[in-house]
Parts: sequence; structure tokens; C-alpha cells
Amino acid sequence: MRKLTLRLFAIALLFSILTYPLSGALASDFKREIVYQIITDRFFDGNTANNNPSQSAGLYDATKTNWRLYWGGDLQGIQQKMSYLAGMGVTAIWISPPVDNLNTNIPDGGGNPTASYHGYQGRDFKRIEEHFGNASNTWTDFDAMVTAAHQNGIKVIIDFAPNHSTQDNAGEFGSLYDNGTFLGNYTNDSNGYFHHNPNIAGGGWDDRYQVQYYTLFDLADVNQEHATMDGYMKAAAQLFQQHGVDGFRIDAVKHVTWGWEYSFANSIYTYGDSFLFGEWYQGNTSDPLYHDSYKFANKSGISLLDFPLNTAIRNVFGSNSNFSDIDSVITAEGSNFTWKEDLVTFVDNHDMARFLSINNNNNRLHEALSFILTSRGIPCIYYGTEQYLHNDTGGGTDPYNRPMMPGFSTTTTAYTLTNRLSALRRSNPAIPYGSMTQRWINNDVYIYERKFFGSVVLVAINKNETTGYSISGLNTSLPVGTQSDYLTGLLGGVPITVGSGSGGNNPVNTFTLPAHTVSVWQFTEGSAPPEIGSIGPTAGQSGVKTTIAGRNFGTTTGTVKFGTTTATVNSWSPTQIVVTTPSVTNGNYNVTVTNSGGTVSNGIQYTVLTAKLIPVTFTVYNATPTQTGDYIFLTGNTVELGAWSTTWDGAVGPMLTPNYPNWFLNASMPAGQTIQFKFIKIAANGAVTWENGANHTYTVPTSGVGYVNVNWQY
Ligand code: NOJ
Ligand code: NOJ
Ligand code: CA
Repeated sequence: MRKLTLRLFAIALLFSILTYPLSGALASDFKREIVYQIITDRFFDGNTANNNPSQSAGLYDATKTNWRLYWGGDLQGIQQKMSYLAGMGVTAIWISPPVDNLNTNIPDGGGNPTASYHGYQGRDFKRIEEHFGNASNTWTDFDAMVTAAHQNGIKVIIDFAPNHSTQDNAGEFGSLYDNGTFLGNYTNDSNGYFHHNPNIAGGGWDDRYQVQYYTLFDLADVNQEHATMDGYMKAAAQLFQQHGVDGFRIDAVKHVTWGWEYSFANSIYTYGDSFLFGEWYQGNTSDPLYHDSYKFANKSGISLLDFPLNTAIRNVFGSNSNFSDIDSVITAEGSNFTWKEDLVTFVDNHDMARFLSINNNNNRLHEALSFILTSRGIPCIYYGTEQYLHNDTGGGTDPYNRPMMPGFSTTTTAYTLTNRLSALRRSNPAIPYGSMTQRWINNDVYIYERKFFGSVVLVAINKNETTGYSISGLNTSLPVGTQSDYLTGLLGGVPITVGSGSGGNNPVNTFTLPAHTVSVWQFTEGSAPPEIGSIGPTAGQSGVKTTIAGRNFGTTTGTVKFGTTTATVNSWSPTQIVVTTPSVTNGNYNVTVTNSGGTVSNGIQYTVLTAKLIPVTFTVYNATPTQTGDYIFLTGNTVELGAWSTTWDGAVGPMLTPNYPNWFLNASMPAGQTIQFKFIKIAANGAVTWENGANHTYTVPTSGVGYVNVNWQY
């Protein structure tokens, strides 16, 4: 029996490898996707047999009145709705954490039962939750769902929560299992699998040490620097890759050890094609840790959910703020995030009131949806948005933002809108890869242009419910002539007439933008030199495959260069090339594509790592004197150490000092390499002080985790 299963698994694996190219674009070119976020328990009950499994009996509420119990939705339910999703233009789904979750009921303050129906209390990261799959916690339903998704051209992203297991003070007290074998729990933690600190509270939410090492909402905080936990989380993620997942939404990335996450991402990318984005909650670009968020996104290989833009979207479309709120976030993030087109944009999610609960106006919902579907970033639509789902109890926040799907109509305006703009994202590269420039703005009107070489998309939104605006003085890069609304009037859009100008500024004849309308005008460039719009992953050591995406690469294989070194090409199509990172000195490289005719593309940045990454905890004792606002950083001789950079963004850090004057930091380092490093002080005014003496040296282990403890050299 066992043997047969293994053999079937091997055949299935071979089959999926052989059919891989059929699945089209790789996950590492994610900018062309439309993501749909599903709360698995609340989407569709495809199998009633798993509603009340014996090992966790009593957590199901058939009446759907207790919002904190399971309501029956499952993986089979998602599988049965694949064609509904495909018809909407959805090309990727993000599902709830599918791993085996807390089995017990933990009553709330009022004595009502609650369950981990949302999936954020994992107990065994290598098995599937019985309410979502079957009572044996096997992969059968998960695999079937992934297969169905791929057959429908839909990628699968799982929510993965490496920060914590279950609640530390009730229920199962954080107990973790490794494919059924007990590993440990929070209460008797002689192995040190968990951090034992208070809950993050008050000013702690802005404190780098506390956000990473304190406890998030009583959830047992996993110590990822422990070799067992490090190996466990990486193996679990890899298991999901083996079962076909295309990407990971990493829960609470701000609360997991930041440096460790670089090695987590590297582990996933070393294994295979994937796309990673994390939940770094923050209100806006003035957040005290905003700088840390973009440094993290620029270096870790993990993109982020765009929370600052989300706030602006809700303010503008929900509360009628000025469009300048959105425009200024786009500008600020545009200069801070290296891979801004990989940011995942959204109107609402499972942790905030649905849009219609803050403004019950479908026009505004359509406008906000149109905005994320056409602006910079990868749009993510919360399930039910297309059915105008909302429940306003308690303001519509958690758990009332997670109602059961009310139905699956394929004729709503929001459903059709998403389908059309999904097609445009596939056909016109300006949407996934292009720049974003504001062309005309006032409180109510936002006209912005997306541009990728000669391809252009111009979008005009008028959110005023009653007033049309006369638009004069608008310029565009669209070609001369009449441009019709790509949405053919679905949201009341109008045509424009473009005249002849120069320098990408063709004047648009004065026209009227009617109240509550969205117009989309577009032009897709014909043949042209090769144009690169994307590379992913953005960093990797020799041997790691990376995907270059764009246009006009040609059907005949040409060459790809990292600086001046030619890389091995694994596959080549007019829009997508997979190459192997060559064996070159670590550092940042300009990657170019030369087509078979010898024409060279634009360049895109890629970081060649020294070796696969291992998490190392660096401690430097007695690093004084520092004053408030001064920080100790780490710098050294490889790209992972910042290549001797002495800037805030270039060096590794800032380090953490819960026990001043000792400072520590977990950072991902090249396996098996002897590194040279020093600690520096970067003062509040930017002045740099090096420690004295010779460089420190350390040989990073080839696997597991590392520790280095040294004294600051005076
Ligand atoms: C953020 C998730 O989105 C939220 O729903 C969850 O409760 C917390 N992280 C803890 O996992
Ligand atoms: C950079 C050098 O390469 C390194 O060896 C030295 O320790 C620091 N500068 C400080 O002088
Ligand atoms: Ca069910």
C-alpha cells in the first residue's frame, strides 16, 4: 500500500514536471497575475463529510451563527469553483493556512466557543487541516485542488505562518508536531523552540526587538534561530512546493525574525519557482518601521502587501479624501521600493472591514477595484467582493468581514470588470511592468498613465457621484487618434481624441469625464527590441534559476548576460526566459537579454549571492558609547554583509539591543564561507565610527544555524 502510494506520487511528480511548461507563465513572473484571497472555511462547502471531524469534534456550527467556529468551507469547495474563478479572470488564489490547526475549543471572554477556522494556529505544518481535507489529515484534497487550479490556469498561494503555532496559554499550549510526531510545546520548552516574552503592546509595536521577539496576541512565538525550528519551517514550505504551490503569503513577516526570513526565502527559491509576499502591517509611509519594511522587501526576496497604499485607497474611495493621498503614496513607495511592481495591492482583506461596510456604494467599489487592477502592483481581490458581500455588524470588522460566500453569479459588474482588466494585464505589458505617472488630478479625478517602452495604458477615474469634469490640458503618450474606452462603457467610460505633440506629451482634446466613471485607454506596442520588465527571484546563488519576463525576446534562443558573463538558458519564449545564475563573484549584476538577431535589451538588477543562505546570530558585546538615535550595524566582505557598506541601507542592521551595551542581530549568511566583518556605529547624524583592530572572521556552517559572539574592538 505504502509502496503503491509512493509510486503514484513519483508518477504524479514526473507528470507534473513533464507538463510544467503547459502551465504557462512561471510564478516568479507574478506581475501579470490577479490574486483572489479566499478564507477557505467561508468560501464553499464542497464536502460535508469533513465538517465535524472526530479529532476536533464540536468546532463546527451548522447554523452559521457563531462567527468564530468552522462553517464548512473546504478545499473541495474551492476545487468545485475553479471555473467560476477562471471566468472572473482570477489567475492566482491565496487560501487560508491549510496546515493542521488547533484541535481544541478555546472559549472567548463571554464563554462562547472559538476555533481556528481561519487557520492561523498551526499545530502540524506538514499535514492538512481535517476540516479542509479529510480526517486523516492527508494531502489528497489539497493535491486535487492544486491540480484543478493549474488546469484552469490558476496558481495557488498558501498562507504560511512561521511566526507562531497555537495559543501559548490555553488549548494546546503551542504544541507542534512534525508530520504527526510531537516536537514540543510552549509550557515545557526545554529545547528552546519558542521565545518566552510578553505580548507586544503599546510602544512595543514600533520597537524592532519587540516586534520580532515578543509574543503576537498570545500565540506561541517560534524561535526560528533554533536549528530544529529553522529546519522544520523550511522543510514544511518545501513540502508544499512538492505539492505544487506556486507561492507563499507569509503571515506577520514583521514579527518573524527579519534576518532569518532572507534564508527562508532563499531556501524556497533554491528549491524552485515561487513568488513570496509578506504581511507587514503599517498604516502609512510615516510609520516608524516603514524604512525597515522597504529595506526588507528590497533585500529579502519577499515582496509585501501594500498596506500604505491600502490606507490611501480606503481613505480616497471610502471616505472621499483627495486623490493626492493615493498619488503621494505611489510616489513615495516608487522611490523606496526597488521592486515596486511586485507589491501586492488590495482594497480590503480578512483583517479589516470590507469596503462596502465603510462605504456602501457600488460605484466606489468599482472605482477602487479598477484602480488596483490597473495601477502599479499585483492586485489582490478579497473573496465575495465581486458579489458585493458585506455584513456590517460591529462596523464589519473581524469576524464579520468573513461571511459565507452568498452565491456565485457570473454576471455582476464587478465580476465582468475583473475579467476584462485581467485580460488587459495579460495583453498590455504597461500594466504589469510599466511606470506609473500622474497626468491630471484633483480631489475627485485621477488620471494616471502606465508606460512600458511603447506600450501605454491611460486610466481616468472620476469618483464624484454627481459632477462631471471638463478635462483640459491632459497629455499622454498614447498615439494620435481616437482612443475608445477599453471597458466599452462598463463603468461609463468615454472616448478621447489624442493630437500630435512631442516628447511623449500628446495633447488630448478637451473632453468631459462624467460622474462616477472609469475610462481605460490603451495601446500595445508592436515589434520592438527586447524589453525586460521583470526578474524573479531577484537574488540567488550560482545554480538558482531565475525568470526574466518582458517582450520581444523572439522565438529563437539568444543569450542572457549577467554583467559580461553568459548564463545557461533553460527555456526561452518571446515573453519569458529561465536562466541559471552563473558562477560569478557575489554582488549586484545588470542582467540583459540579447535576441538571436544581436539586439540587446534594457538591463535589470539581480544580486548574485555567495552561497545558499544560513541564519547566523551575531552578538557584539560592550559596543559603546552610543547615544539615542545611534545604532550598531554589521558590515563585511560579501554582498550578504553589505560589501563593506557604511550606510543605513547598505550595511546589515540596525542591530538590536535588549541588553545594552550588547547588540545582536540574526542575519542570513553564505553557507560554508569564511566571512570577514566588522561592526560600525552609524550615529543619528549619519556619522560612521568603525571598531578598531583586525576584521573578525567566521566560517558559516554548511547547514543548520550559526552563532558568533565577539567583543567590540576598542
Ligand atoms: C495576520 C493575519 O492576517 C491575521 O488574520 C492573523 O490573525 C494574524 N496574522 C496572526 O496569525
Ligand atoms: C573596509 C576594509 O576593507 C576593512 O578591512 C576595514 O576593517 C574597514 N574598512 C575599516 O577600515
Ligand atoms: Ca466541509
